[in-house]
Amino acid sequence: MSSSGVTLTAPVNIALIKYWGKLDETAIIPTNDSLSFTLSQDDMCATTTAMTVARGVKSKFWLNGKEMDLGHPRIRAVVEEVRKIAKVQGTDETLLDLPVRIASINNFPTAAGLASSAAGYAAATAALGALYGVKGDLSRIARIGSGSACRSISGGFVRWIAGSTSEDSIAVQVAPENHWPSLRWLICVVRATPKAVGSTEGMRRTIQTSPLMPARIASVPDKISAITKAIQERNFRAMAELTMQDSNQFHAICLDTFPPLFYMNDVSHRIIDFVHDYNRVKGSLIAGYTFDAGPNACLFTEQENFDELASVVEALFSDGVETDFVKGMKPERKVDASKLL
Ligand code: DP6
Repeated sequence: MSSSGVTLTAPVNIALIKYWGKLDETAIIPTNDSLSFTLSQDDMCATTTAMTVARGVKSKFWLNGKEMDLGHPRIRAVVEEVRKIAKVQGTDETLLDLPVRIASINNFPTAAGLASSAAGYAAATAALGALYGVKGDLSRIARIGSGSACRSISGGFVRWIAGSTSEDSIAVQVAPENHWPSLRWLICVVRATPKAVGSTEGMRRTIQTSPLMPARIASVPDKISAITKAIQERNFRAMAELTMQDSNQFHAICLDTFPPLFYMNDVSHRIIDFVHDYNRVKGSLIAGYTFDAGPNACLFTEQENFDELASVVEALFSDGVETDFVKGMKPERKVDASKLL
């Protein structure tokens, strides 16, 4: 029998209001809603091929060219869920019974706090869904691979509604890609190596030990409403303030976790100081930042301010060896800020 395969890409998403904490670790039901922006397909994306192979050939999974364990509970759960839904939707069972091979490649550092698992599981879900002809919402399937992956299934601004069951914990688009065309992103790669404590373990530790976490969870619904309004109105100041405050609160919760989680480093802190100084000197809030579970900075501004901000950041934070920025809907360059100040 000949093989048939599907290749699809999914971009990373940047969380403006963070997901951190699970109510159910297996189904990946989060403690709170989160909201993100999905970068464009052109850069910082995962590309996944899913292919059925002849009976008797072994099923396999590769990540960035390295063979991984297809028995890993999360990738296995995604494959099983896609097949289950495909079966209900009437896909030919002989296709579903064939061994499958999956190969995924990220074009950016993996597990360095740059949402690699989000893009990876979103691309894998989309490729498997297309392979087996699944119709309808894929976000709830991507979610069981990695929570934040459900937000990379859609473009633009996306809200993950926490829900309380596997069925109602889904991601929905709040505004499309072209809603805010002047918005630009600048990703500063401070360290491109994997983080010491992964998100799954970090969240578990936070839920078990952080006395501040319940207050954060209680504060999220108002933040989600406020940032949704700011996005709808393209109110940069409000959006940037809410995003920076949520990033800072998330990292405060990480410090409140015991033993503490140090995701940002000195360079990250200097970048935060720089953004606040820059806004002060400019006399208005024109740049914002957010940091996920790693030291790399996601800066954002509007088109008219992008070139100047990018040049200043590059001058201050890059040693000029590799200057590679990411900007906006069509990310083009990333800063390598690994040898800084
Ligand atoms: C800090 O989605 O990687 O980036 O569900 O355990 O795979 P798992 O976690 P993951 O966590 C991402 C956390 C975050 C914030 C966010 O993306 O909202």
